[in-house]
Amino acid sequence: MKILVVGSGGREHAIIRKLKESPKVDQIYAAPGNGGISKDAECVNIGAMDKKGITQFAKENAIDLVFVAPDDPLADGMVNELEGAGIRAFGPRAEAAVIESSKVFSKNLMKKYHIPTADYAVFSDPKEVITYIENKHQYPVVIKADGLALGKGVIIAQNYDEAKNAVKEIMEDKKFGDSGNNVVVEEFLTGPEVSVLAFTDGISLKTMVSSKDHKRAYDNDEGLNTGGMGTISPNPYYTDEIAEICRKTIFEPTVAAMNSENRTFKGCLYFGLMITPDGPKVIEYNARFGDPETQVVLPRLKTDLVDIIEAVIDEKLSQLDIEWSDDASACVVMASGGYPLAYQKGIEIFGLDENGQVDGATVYHAGTKFENGKFFTNGGRVLGITAAADTLEKALEKAYAAVDKISFEGAHYRKDIGRTGK
Ligand code: AMP
Ligand code: GLY
Repeated sequence: MKILVVGSGGREHAIIRKLKESPKVDQIYAAPGNGGISKDAECVNIGAMDKKGITQFAKENAIDLVFVAPDDPLADGMVNELEGAGIRAFGPRAEAAVIESSKVFSKNLMKKYHIPTADYAVFSDPKEVITYIENKHQYPVVIKADGLALGKGVIIAQNYDEAKNAVKEIMEDKKFGDSGNNVVVEEFLTGPEVSVLAFTDGISLKTMVSSKDHKRAYDNDEGLNTGGMGTISPNPYYTDEIAEICRKTIFEPTVAAMNSENRTFKGCLYFGLMITPDGPKVIEYNARFGDPETQVVLPRLKTDLVDIIEAVIDEKLSQLDIEWSDDASACVVMASGGYPLAYQKGIEIFGLDENGQVDGATVYHAGTKFENGKFFTNGGRVLGITAAADTLEKALEKAYAAVDKISFEGAHYRKDIGRTGK
């Protein structure tokens, strides 16, 4: 088979590495890919949002399967476009990807189908939000831009001034563009967070092993929210008992709700959960694999990923047994100095071998380029250094030992991945 993976981050690198293990795969292309991905796949210079370009490339090169990994091309209907041209594609169609691309949609869906989530109100007028917050007198309060915002459109305001400023930035300054035309104001929940990714063909749903992201930029969960600074799998808070509650109250009802709305979801559905004192609740849905969750989840997959993808597309998922290793895995993200705010690109990375790897771990490249035999930084999150072992402690030791071998000017990474309280 010839497979094209759309995207250019650490998640896509992890997907490509897993696809490479399949005996069914002859060739993998990445559009556009990155420096590290170019060692595992043929990178083609087509942007991840270019649905016409991707479709044309797939046709001309007789691609058997296109894996659309990022949120924005899914929301923009890349899968609809590919399927329309008769090309097999993995990922939800636009009408289902809206579960991630509109928080107003997902909150209303959860309310309508009684899926546990934080209480909320929706606004399109900044003045009305401010009045609502003024009358609420309860902090912290959570303010979210409706649309996609690279994981940065959520502000937890500790007081009135912070809330007012957040509303101004999102709705008036349009910090996230049209994503901020509407906002959701939410009740602040507490408890450990769990990421659960699941394969679904719209009929059955099979969860993957759980994971835990570390979203804040600095140790002890300080600093701004980022796309994710590191992950572990499994998530110690996700017990069998919690998993069973989630299956009954969240996972299966969500698949059914999307069917009832004529928005059947096929692909990877990501549940961002919080285990609150009142039980598990949905913080967010994503219509895709998480980043950097994928980097710790997929290495534990023992079943051929191509078989799973085909079962999802052909709606035969219930017939497949999916197996996982009992290992624990850990991923530490090395980011550019300044990330998630402004950062420099083009800084040389030292310590990687000619394939962009180091001994003792797997290095998933998130934002790198490869030029004249050297790797350079090319994004906010640069590398995800990942290791597996029979215990989490050993996996973390291996990952951090590998991090110590890599350096670039300004690099920063969290030293407490897998070790924070919640
Ligand atoms: P989201 O992009 O919706 O996942 O939000 C980003 C992060 O903000 C989450 O991972 C949580 O840590 C935090 N967050 C979002 N919503 C809430 C909430 N209602 N209560 C407390 N924390 C939240
Ligand atoms: N790591 C969080 C996400 O992928 O949205």
